[in-house]
Amino acid sequence: MNNTTFDFIGGKTGDWKVVKMTTLKGDSLPKVTHIDKIQSSLINRFEGIWSLKGIISNLRYTEKSDKEKLAAVQEDLGRPQATYAALIPIRKNEAWWNLAQDERRKIMENQSRHTHIGMQYLPAIARKLFHSRDIGEPFDFLTWFEFAPEDEAAFNELLSKLRQSEEWEYVDREIDIRMKRV
Ligand code: HEM
Repeated sequence: MNNTTFDFIGGKTGDWKVVKMTTLKGDSLPKVTHIDKIQSSLINRFEGIWSLKGIISNLRYTEKSDKEKLAAVQEDLGRPQATYAALIPIRKNEAWWNLAQDERRKIMENQSRHTHIGMQYLPAIARKLFHSRDIGEPFDFLTWFEFAPEDEAAFNELLSKLRQSEEWEYVDREIDIRMKRV
């Protein structure tokens, strides 16, 4: 296991205190009070209630110009003022995965304008995408966001725009977990 694989462990202790868990679609997860995000190779004893694993992977749909624009404005995780976080595990349905790569990209970027919408919320929202589908996990993606308390309303607005998009019609499981740094 390498340093690009992470476990998101829900339990009774951890660096992030859960303030709200909302199941938007599909089955929920057992309620937990804390979440820890740990590089999988560093875990020696599991003491949580559940664990979700994800891998930092290559980009699938982002074109060069957007990649450069994102790199110029996005912030890293771990900023001291970003004391709020969200973990949003997402699964997309079989219809999505049966589409060809170019069809999926068209829905994400032409119809849903995912990156265009998202970019309006940078650098306030720092984000990281973890892939889980190919490692037999219950979700396809684990999405992680960090922001300052004063940017929470903007983050909610961003989510409501994305959830109204055509891309989200393919989402069949989504849980929105909000946290505060301990
Ligand atoms: C903060 C602003 C955001 C920006 C700039 C952004 C940008 C992007 C980009 C560029 C990709 C494509 C990565 C690739 O090429 O493979 C992506 C993928 C993704 N984003 Fe966002 N995003 C943002 C917010 C969000 C939010 C709020 C969610 C909701 C939970 C989200 C969920 C996802 C998911 C699930 C994927 C993977 C989609 C797939 O591969 O089918 N993003 N995002």
